[in-house]
Amino acid sequence: MEPITILMNEHRVIEQVLGCLDKMAAQAAATRTLDTAAAHKAIVFFRSFADKCHHGKEEAKLFPFVESLGFPRDGGPTGVMMTEHEEGRSCVRRMAEAVKAVEEGRQSGVSIFVEAARAYIALLTTHIRKEDSCLFPMAEQNMTADDEQALLAEFERAETEEMNVGDHEQLLSLADALAEQFGVAKAETCGRGAHVAACGHRA
Ligand SMILES: [Fe+2]
Ligand SMILES: [Fe+2]
Repeated sequence: MEPITILMNEHRVIEQVLGCLDKMAAQAAATRTLDTAAAHKAIVFFRSFADKCHHGKEEAKLFPFVESLGFPRDGGPTGVMMTEHEEGRSCVRRMAEAVKAVEEGRQSGVSIFVEAARAYIALLTTHIRKEDSCLFPMAEQNMTADDEQALLAEFERAETEEMNVGDHEQLLSLADALAEQFGVAKAETCGRGAHVAACGHRA
C-alpha cells in the first residue's frame, strides 16, 4: 500500500468517528444531557488514532518530505496544517474538560461539549478535505518509488515504536462500536484487512 493511501484510509476512519461525534452533539443539544461513556470513547479515539497515530505520521514523516520539495513550513501548506492540528488538540481538550464538568454535576459542561465538538468537526472536516484534495496529491505527484518505500518504512517504524498493534485493534473496534451506537455508516476501508492497513500495519 502507498503511503498516501494509508493516510487517506485513516481519514475515512476519522470521518466515521466525526459522524458519531456529530450525532452525539445533536443528542446532547436536544436532551441537555451527555452520554459521557460515548464521549470518553470518542476522545480516546481522537487523541490516540487521529492525533498520535495519524497526525503524528503527517508531522514527523510526510510534512518534512513536502518541505524537502521546497515548500517552506513558515507561510507554507505544512505550517497551516500544523496550526490546524494544534487547534484540533485544543478542541479535544475542551471536550474532555466539558465531560469532566458534566461528571462533576455541572450542567454547563453539556453546552461546552456541544460547542467544542462542533468546532472540532468543522475544523477537521475542512482540514481533511484540504489534505485529500491539495496537499496529498501534490506530495504524491512528486514522490519517486524510492521516496514511497522510504516513507512506508518510516510509517512502519513510527507505528511499531509509538503504538502497539493491540492498541490499533482496540481503537478500530472503538470506532466501529461508536458507529453502531450512533447509526453511522462504517468507513469503506473498514474491512478487517483494510483496517489494519489503515494504520500502517501490514495485514
Ligand atoms: Fe493533518
Ligand atoms: Fe490528515
